[in-house]
Parts: sequence; structure tokens; C-alpha cells
Amino acid sequence: VRRPLVLGIETSCDDTGCAVVDGAGRVLSDVVHSQLQVHLDHGGIIPPIARDLHAQNIGAAAERALRDAGVSLAELDAVAVTVRPGLSLSLLVGLRHARLLARQASLPLIPVHHMRAHALTVRMAAPEVAFPFLTLLISGGHCLLAVAQAPDRFLLLGASRDDAPGEALDKAARRLKLRNLPECATLAGGRAVELLAARGDPHAFEFPLPLSQYRDCSFSFAGLKFTAQKLAASEEQRHDVVASGVIPTAADLCASLQHAVARHLCHRTQRAMDYCQARGLLPDGARRLVVSGGVACNGYITACLRRVGEALGFEVYVPPPRLCTDNGVMIAWKGVELLRVGRGGTRDLDSVDIEAR
Ligand code: KG4
Ligand code: ZN
Repeated sequence: VRRPLVLGIETSCDDTGCAVVDGAGRVLSDVVHSQLQVHLDHGGIIPPIARDLHAQNIGAAAERALRDAGVSLAELDAVAVTVRPGLSLSLLVGLRHARLLARQASLPLIPVHHMRAHALTVRMAAPEVAFPFLTLLISGGHCLLAVAQAPDRFLLLGASRDDAPGEALDKAARRLKLRNLPECATLAGGRAVELLAARGDPHAFEFPLPLSQYRDCSFSFAGLKFTAQKLAASEEQRHDVVASGVIPTAADLCASLQHAVARHLCHRTQRAMDYCQARGLLPDGARRLVVSGGVACNGYITACLRRVGEALGFEVYVPPPRLCTDNGVMIAWKGVELLRVGRGGTRDLDSVDIEAR
């Protein structure tokens, strides 16, 4: 193992993640306790329920992360924990536990920004992704384009004015009752949409291209979400399906929505690439785009982004799916990156607080 050795704790949303990562980017342990099934049963995340589940699981998850890694608390160099953005009730559970562990072993505590952690994960396995690089972060709660300039310095180019792409996909999956299909019963909404879309026609239904008249890097997914709901309702009527039934055109609708999401993401990413070029924000010889966040698990969307990259001379990097969704590894790695530039960690444990969005 190479120093620093960091325990990462992630509880910003619905996954309790704890992991130990070393200075060479080796993952010594990776424990994720997912609340997905509970939230699918409730039709969405209910914050107090998420908090209670984090509280139930965090102790065991952290213990197992240390045990799997074969290190004791005292052997660590720091504890890193997500403090923003996220659900405040959930964030607090992680922070309190991180503080407890840091206090027990007199370790520094490193507050971590969840979205920035998503952006840096790729450097664990691909150290050639040097700063600065362009990053597109797409998840269930966020959508943004930024230039990562240093582990703790990001230049925001644009973000969503309303919903995130994962939110649009999750809502569509729920509206289409994809859970009633056995192959989709246990999947995240976006994954279910991807699975169905694979056997549908992406041009079957027409979706508008959001913000087509704006020449900036912001996003909007509320219109796509709304169009999907409207189309689902009219298809239901047209096919006269029973209450629990899935409409026969669900695959076409999923494919068309997924295509529309991909198109919008590509459109804005292309703008960001042009902007970076015009402003000289990225080095000429090394133009790179890093895509991460849960929606980056989507093969159709990343294939489209890769084509845009190819056309504009950008190399496109996407971490493996396991590292795109929420986990403790990315938080631990962000801690390593911050320690390396001398920006990580405080021993004044009570000075660290959450900053919920
Ligand atoms: O990053 P993440 O795990 O949590 C947040 O920070 O939000 O992202 C979760 C989101 C959910 O909306 C989920 O439906 C979506 O990522 N997602 C996908 C896929 N797998 C997960 N979206 C599209 N295609 C997938 N294969
Ligand atoms: Zn995330």
C-alpha cells in the first residue's frame, strides 16, 4: 500500500458507501449498502426513511470496509466524508459517524464535495487524465458541465435549470410501471429505461430539443419529463391497458426518451467543448472529457457522447458503472487527491459541517 490511506464515507442520497483507498488508487475495500428496493417500494426517496436506513447501516459498513481492507482505524491517514450536496438528514448521519471515527483514532477529517468526487474518480485508474479537463456530471439529482482545474478548483460552465436527467428517467420508469416487468423489478429507473430502450425505436416518438435557442451550457430536463408523462398517458388511453399493465409501446417510448436525453446532453457538451476551445481553457494536446454520475452507466448516452468527442478532438473517459453510481471509493479517492495537494483534512472536527443544497 502507498500512503495516504483514506477511509471514505458517502451517505448523501440513498446509498451507504464506505471504502478504503490508497495513494496509488488501489481500492482496498468497497462496501455499498443500497436502499434502492425500499425507495422503489415507496415510489421515491423519503428523507427520514433514508436517514434511518443510513443510521442502521453506517456502523457495520465502516467496520466491514476496514476489515475487508485489512487495516485498523489507527493505520489510516484520514477519514473523508461527503458534506455536500445532498439530503441534509442523510449527510448528517455520515458526518457524525466520520467524526466519531476520526475522534477515536485522532485522525484528520476531510470534507468532500460529492459531485467533484464523481469527477475525479476516473484518475484512480487513468492517471493520464491531468488537470485541467472538461467534465460532464449526470446523476439523479444533478447535471452540470465544469472544467476541473485542480482537486479543489472547478470552473462551472453550466448546470440544469430544473431537473436532472436521472430524475426524468426515474419518473418515466415509474409512470410506465416498468417495475411490473420481471427483468426491471430490481433496477434503478434509468437502468430499466435503458434495458427496454434496447428493443425500441428511438425515433418512434418525438421529443423537443430543450434550450435549443440558448447558446450557453445550461440544461433543462423538465420538458422531456413532462413530454414522457404526456405520451405515456395518451398511449395508455390508446391501448386501453389495465391499471398494473405496461403499454405495448413502452420500449419505443423509452428509446425515444433516452435518445432525447442523449441528444440534449450532446448538444450542451458540444457547446462546452467549443467554449473551452475559444477561451483556451484546455491544453491543445490533451483535450479530455470525463463523464460520471449514475446516468453515465448508460451505454447509449455515453456512446453518443463519445461520438461528439471524436468529432471535436476530445478523448472521452467514463469510469466503470460501479464507480459511476454513488460509492465510498470516490469519496476516499477525493480525500487522497486533497491530501496530496496539501488541502485535505482538519483536526478541528467540529468545524466541519454539512452544506445541504
Ligand atoms: O450518481 P447516482 O448514483 O446518485 C446521485 O447522486 O443522484 O445516480 C443515480 C441516478 C438515478 O437517477 C438512476 O436512475 C441513474 O442514475 N442511473 C441510470 C443508469 N443507472 C443508474 N440512468 C441511465 N442509465 C443507466 N444505466
Ligand atoms: Zn452521485
